[in-house]
Amino acid sequence: MTKVKKKKYALITGATSGIGIPTAIGVAKRGYHTTLICRNPAKGESLKQRITEETGNHDVDIILADLTSLEDVRKASHSYINSGKSLHLLINNAGIINTTHEMTQDGYEAMFAVNYLSVFLLTSQLLPLLKSSGDQTDNNSRIINVSSEGYKMAKRIDFENINAEKGFKTFPVYGHSKLALMLFNLELAEQLSQHPVNTYTVHPGAVNTNLGSGDNTILSRFLFPMLRPFFKTPEQGAATTLYVAFEPKADGQNGFYYANSKVRKLGKQAKDSVQAKTLWSWTDNRLSEFYN
Ligand SMILES: NC(=O)c1ccc[n+]([C@@H]2O[C@H](COP(=O)([O-])OP(=O)(O)OC[C@H]3O[C@@H](n4cnc5c(N)ncnc54)[C@H](OP(=O)(O)O)[C@@H]3O)[C@@H](O)[C@H]2O)c1
Repeated sequence: MTKVKKKKYALITGATSGIGIPTAIGVAKRGYHTTLICRNPAKGESLKQRITEETGNHDVDIILADLTSLEDVRKASHSYINSGKSLHLLINNAGIINTTHEMTQDGYEAMFAVNYLSVFLLTSQLLPLLKSSGDQTDNNSRIINVSSEGYKMAKRIDFENINAEKGFKTFPVYGHSKLALMLFNLELAEQLSQHPVNTYTVHPGAVNTNLGSGDNTILSRFLFPMLRPFFKTPEQGAATTLYVAFEPKADGQNGFYYANSKVRKLGKQAKDSVQAKTLWSWTDNRLSEFYN
């Protein structure tokens, strides 16, 4: 008897630019019902149209949310849950590099908020759904956190300076937010060990995208544009995420870190399970008002 293939569902953040565009197209090409969380309705609609034209997949939805706002993240997760869809693949791709110090309305430094806190909140709200969806299929559900090798710019989480108030430098603050994401993945993997969900981090490489172009400083106006032509294309940048999303060999590789579609060893600071647990409970305490 032929087995009827179950419809699969994916949710992707940050799909309206850079690496996220070919990632979303790649996911939709695989026939996944693809939901895009984005902040700009016009960019979301135009991407939705492009995806349906390029892939023939009409199952594309948009949820609007600004990931600097924890309330928006909470609402986005509820909107997805209330849609009644399953969830087999969550790609936390959105990320920012700011060259100036910015705080969010919730009182967090913006890179820490988007690159880490929004991921923690969105993922934890969707975990029950990822678990129940994983149960329905032969493969585990997958969570892919698009991180950066730049996490190595931070040696540890600095709980005394979470908001970078003691002097702001673009790359160390970006690296700190990505280290938080790496530690999130470490602790989440442990918590998921008995569940049909696997979590991963990926480094896309240096990719020619809009990352870091949001403000008007020397770095964003001159340095980043000068370097970009030497970088990978967004399609090349999306390759590792898509590999981890669909490669059968990746099934069961819970907590693994990938770059260039290969498993990469973690640096010492990203393997610190004590710090990962401390960061988890620190974050859990602060975000609990946004649960449910
Ligand atoms: N490019 C690289 O060299 C590189 C290297 C290592 C890691 N990464 C990581 O790769 C991921 C994708 O970055 P990218 O290079 O493709 O950058 P990008 O071209 O700037 O795209 C970033 C995406 O995130 C979305 N986003 C940013 N802030 C948001 C917010 N507050 N609310 C909702 N969505 C928001 C953007 O939405 P809009 O379209 O509305 O702006 C866009 O879709 C990031 O996590 C980044 O840290 C990139």
